[in-house]
Amino acid sequence: MDYGTIAGIDGPVSRIIFGTDRLWSRRQPWLPVPGRERRAFSLLDRAFELGCNTFDTARTYRDGERTLGAWIRTRRIRDDVVVISKGGHPHGSGRPRLSASDVSHDLHASLKALGTDSIDLYLLHYDDPTADVEPVMERLDRHIAEGKIGVIGTSNWAHQRVADANAMAAHNGLNPFAASSVQFSLADWTAPPWPGAVTLGGREQQAAREWYSTRGLSVLAWSSLARGFFSDHYDPTNTDENAVSRWCATYFDTEENLARRERALVFARENGVTVARVALAYVLRHPLHVFAIVGCTTEAKLADDVGATSLELDEATLRWLDGNASSR
Ligand SMILES: NC(=O)c1ccc[n+]([C@@H]2O[C@H](COP(=O)([O-])OP(=O)(O)OC[C@H]3O[C@@H](n4cnc5c(N)ncnc54)[C@H](OP(=O)(O)O)[C@@H]3O)[C@@H](O)[C@H]2O)c1
Repeated sequence: MDYGTIAGIDGPVSRIIFGTDRLWSRRQPWLPVPGRERRAFSLLDRAFELGCNTFDTARTYRDGERTLGAWIRTRRIRDDVVVISKGGHPHGSGRPRLSASDVSHDLHASLKALGTDSIDLYLLHYDDPTADVEPVMERLDRHIAEGKIGVIGTSNWAHQRVADANAMAAHNGLNPFAASSVQFSLADWTAPPWPGAVTLGGREQQAAREWYSTRGLSVLAWSSLARGFFSDHYDPTNTDENAVSRWCATYFDTEENLARRERALVFARENGVTVARVALAYVLRHPLHVFAIVGCTTEAKLADDVGATSLELDEATLRWLDGNASSR
């Protein structure tokens, strides 16, 4: 495993972050599914053994927070892990929830579900570009002072909004956003899969990538495998095969992306690795202060993903994989 740092977080942050949006062991808190918690714990144990010390969860990930928190408490490793959670998601309310009271409400619910006193990195799950961010940052500042949050960040915010918010925070002596979580992978999506979702991929995001790169602000790339486009779940010749394929066909199936996938497959075959490992290495080697959030359900796939941290890709290969150079 390779580690990086995020401003304000003491200690190392694994560059592969374990994503928990499918890690739930109970459909409802009062309805345990036999064996499922044991299964989730053993996957988390393996992640930890592999050096993965950082976990991405959210108020909206069904039983994700509770399962993650229960595992951390059972293993007594709270000081050895970095917990990222998110709040302020509209979550079916039909309105943006980027207000001080909504965010406070979600934070307290997350602390309770996780069974912890503090969340190391707390992200605002979605932006409301019409909202004044000052009262929300003031509230988050109070929660930092109370010790309920370590540092703060954003998820699905355009880089200009992060820049403006941090300028305001500097002016008013508030804690700034230390990280930004956006979609980023070797494949560029055709449209946001959820309203308000933000990507760093594609030609239109060049200015955003340069901004992150020069600022050195930590980027937490979600769906870094394009949600399975770079996996054996996806068969471009049979896109009705399974749910992953249907999703990928809807959001990633373009000529450009299929060509990227083909080149990644060529490189994978030549180097005796999987296409998933090549796609993740592409994200990790990008000239950004980047961490890759991955979601996976087996120990073997997780070990494969962690292997991406030691797969070197030079600049020429990065350009070739992306389609910006005809040869390596
Ligand atoms: N902030 C946000 O708005 C936001 C949005 C979406 C996701 N996220 C975060 O990002 C995390 C990951 O996103 P994601 O699950 O959408 O997409 P992802 O990590 O890009 O892709 C997950 C898919 O890749 C497969 N996979 C993983 N490693 C593999 C390997 N080595 N070989 C073959 N296949 C492999 C998984 O297979 P299996 O299913 O078989 O394991 C799954 O189908 C989530 O858990 C969540 O924490 C955040």
